Order: sequence, then structure tokens, then C-alpha cells
Amino acid sequence: MFSRPSLGAFALGLALAGSPVNADGPCDIYSSGGTPCIAAHSTVRALYDSYTDALYQISRGSDGSTTDITPLSNGIANATAQDSFCAGTTCLITIIYDQSGSGNHLTQAPPGGAASGPETNGYDYLASAIGAPVTLNGTKAYGVFISPNTGYRNNNPNGTATGDDPEGMYAVFDGTHYNNKCCFDYGNAETDSRDTGNGRMEAIYFGNGGNKGSGNGPWVQADLENGLFSGGNGDVNENNLSLTSRFITAIVKGQSNQWAIRGGDATSGSLSTYYSGTRPSPGYNPMSKEGAIVLGIGGDNSDRAQGTFYEGVMTTGYPSDDTENAVQSNIVAAGYDTTSLVTGNFSQFSVGSSISLRATTDCCTNRYIAHTGSTVNTQIVSSSSSDDLKQQASWIIHTGLGNSDCFSFESKDTPGSYIRHYNYQLQADQNDGSQLFGEDATFCPQSGLNGDGHFSMRSWSYPARYWRHYNAVGYLASNGGPHDFDATYSFNDDVSFAISDGFA
Ligand code: AHR
Ligand code: AHR
Repeated sequence: MFSRPSLGAFALGLALAGSPVNADGPCDIYSSGGTPCIAAHSTVRALYDSYTDALYQISRGSDGSTTDITPLSNGIANATAQDSFCAGTTCLITIIYDQSGSGNHLTQAPPGGAASGPETNGYDYLASAIGAPVTLNGTKAYGVFISPNTGYRNNNPNGTATGDDPEGMYAVFDGTHYNNKCCFDYGNAETDSRDTGNGRMEAIYFGNGGNKGSGNGPWVQADLENGLFSGGNGDVNENNLSLTSRFITAIVKGQSNQWAIRGGDATSGSLSTYYSGTRPSPGYNPMSKEGAIVLGIGGDNSDRAQGTFYEGVMTTGYPSDDTENAVQSNIVAAGYDTTSLVTGNFSQFSVGSSISLRATTDCCTNRYIAHTGSTVNTQIVSSSSSDDLKQQASWIIHTGLGNSDCFSFESKDTPGSYIRHYNYQLQADQNDGSQLFGEDATFCPQSGLNGDGHFSMRSWSYPARYWRHYNAVGYLASNGGPHDFDATYSFNDDVSFAISDGFA
């Protein structure tokens, strides 16, 4: 900093004016350290003290129109503007703007070597705008909840590190949302979405896949292409600690034949260095970085991982540990905290009680969510129905198997079977105790998209998707997605249900 007189004088001026250091944003701190941001992304806050432009763009299902979300005067995203734009419909995050002024925006990831589903022509899905609510010093904002098959990318970057250029990166993630699939990444990757060889990428990876560290994970690792490295040369790195707090700071940085992994709790304390040393081999020294930017996917668009992103940057130059420690203090001071995934009056969702859920589309107001074997469907049920049918249309409410903010629904007549989604269809399956089952079986009620005191049941793990009846079968549908059952026609009614005491 002291070798850069103008920035030093600026910092001194701030100090004389009595401003706390944390009035700066993370990118102001990186600039002071001589390693400025070349890309800066966040849907929750401005990453420069002076940034007032758009943070991200959303698009809504009702009419396809878009709007930009900007920061409030405190630098936090204006979530209220999002909530009013999205009232009574669904919203997706379409652009995460680059705050650095370099134009390195993130948009829907295009097809790559590892193809996404054929139904999307290889494009990844966009994230729901409401999957990851948080508060920052008490102000609500929304992060980017990446479900499998969801991803963002920029394959035409400006000024990011290429070849063996030095760079740094940090990101704030949800330490409880991850899996072991490839690859929940943020950072530098190939410009053609293909695996072009070792050393072609350098990104932060977070999850419990890869080369692993101590404990059960998840770990911050580096995706350097054809390898998730927890440190060293691709072995288990016992110095790389599992990071299980709700909000975590993750850092990867690299320069000529040297790289490091650092991490910590994003709400308190300091960063630990889990690895700092030479590059793995062969093919990683020198590096051949291509400079594209990925979020939520691997270099070749491998897109089966999941995670939540709140903020992150890429720098020019190799940041010092001191600079990163100051960034960590800034993140802690931002005051990340949780807020409920369900809002409104959910007193009828009382754990242990039996409920029935009636369709509200005009066609079908005598039909209830029921099951025939493992198929979840709607059936005509009334007080004079058989006891068997009444049981098939009754569900016991449980605390969410995958997230305790939300709920799971056990079949009344088939104990141990819960409503879960599988290939975006609703099924009543036995709980196998796996992480995937618990997450597939967890749903977050919200006020019905068609209003009227109804409820819509949003998937916790795929928050762009809701329970829907379509030709009397139960699906997990998105508003205007690629499947027949994603049709926009009567979407709001098809995903809205009236709750009552269980028939049985
Ligand atoms: O390095 C791990 C993954 O391997 C990369 O993200 C992907 O491009 C390849 O499949
Ligand atoms: O329903 C989407 C996914 O399909 C589920 O998460 C998984 O169990 C299945 O592969």
C-alpha cells in the first residue's frame, strides 16, 4: 500500500476523517493492496463503497419482463424491489453484473463438453431469485441458490488472468449447501466450455468431492482442470479443514509455480491457510489459464453440483494474505445472518398433524394430492370416499428432512414414505436416509401464486420449481421451463393448493 502514494494518501484521508476501515468495500481493499478486482459479483451487496449501479437482473414468469436490482443507500440489494416485481409470480436471476467496470457479467451458461440436459439444448438452468434469502446487518437480500443443472458463465472476459498470470479470488458460500458432484466452482475457466487440459482453469471449488481434506467436508479446494485439489499434488490434505459454518469465506489464489487455499467462517474470526506451496504436476506449471468465468459449474460445464453464492471477486495480481485478511474483516462486518425460508402465516403447517391438499384450478377443485403406489397424483376425494382413498390423500407434516426451516410430507397409509421429486416428478418413496432423499423431500410453503389463502409448495433443492398437478399427475414444475408440465398456461392455479385437516 505504501508504494502506492495516491491510494495511501486516500486511506490516510479516510483515517483522518475518522471513517472505519470497514466503510470500504472488498474491492476497495484489494485496490489498496495493489491487486484490484477485475470481476466483482454479488446479488446481496455492493463490493465497492461507491458502487450504486445494478447488482443483478431478474426476469419474471408472468410476462417475461426483466428489471435490475440496485443497492440501497447502505449498499445492500433492494430485496423489496424484487419482492414487489415478483409478487404473484416466479422470478429467475438472469444476469449477475460485474461491479468492477470491466463488463465481466455472468449470464446463463451455454452448452459445453459435459452437456446439460437435452431438454435445455445444453444450456444450464437459471437460479430462482428467492432460493437463498439472508440478512446483512438486518437488511434482507437474496443470494444465488445453485441447484444441479444450474450455472452462469462469461466466455468473453475482459482482463482476467490468462496463461500463468497471477490472480486471486474469494467467494462467500453457504457452508451447508453442497454435494460431492462436479463442480460447484467460482472463478477462472475455459473460454469454450470444454476441457482443454490440465491448468486451463483456476477456480474455487466448494463441496465434499475431489481430493478431500480432514473430516467429512465440505472443503474449499481449487479446480485446476482434471482435478479438484485440496492442496499439494492431488492427495488428501489433512491440513485442509472441513468448513461447516452456515456462511463461509473461500479463497484460492495462484501465481507462477505457487498457489494457496484459504478459508474461514464468514461471520466471525480470521482466515486459515490450508495450503500454500508449489503447483501440482504434470501440466499445472506453468498454468495455461483461459480467463473465462464460471459460477456453479465446472470448466467443461459439468453441472451436477449444488451450492449457494452470495458474493465473490477475481483480482489482477496475487493478493497478499494481509489484503485478504482485511477483506475477511469486511465480510464479517457485513453481518451475514439467516432468515426463514418460509414467510407469512403457516400455522396450518403444524408438525405431526395430518393434512389434505386440494387443487384450486377450475377444472379440478374436487381433486386432492394423493398417491397410487409411488405415483403422486390428484384424485377426487370427499367425505364419502373409501377409507383407503382418504388415507391415500392424507399426509403427515414433518420438519423438513433436508432443511429444518421447511417441511416434509409422509404418506398416512405408507409409513416411512415421503413425497419427493425424482426427475422432476413427484413420488411417494421410502426414505433411504440419504442426503439426496432428504433434500428431494423438502418443500418450503409460500403464499399461493394465485393468492386466495392458498399455498404453493416450493422445492428446497430446486427453488425455481413447485408442486404442480398436470393431467392429474404430480410434478415439480418451473414456470415456462422446457417440459410439457412446465407450461405457463394455468401455472399459478396448478401450483396453488388449499390446505385442510387430513381426510384420515
Ligand atoms: O477439474 C474437475 C473438472 O474436470 C472440471 O471442472 C471439468 O472441466 C472436468 O470435467
Ligand atoms: O427431481 C430432480 C432430481 O431427479 C432429483 O433431485 C434426483 O433424485 C433425481 O435424479
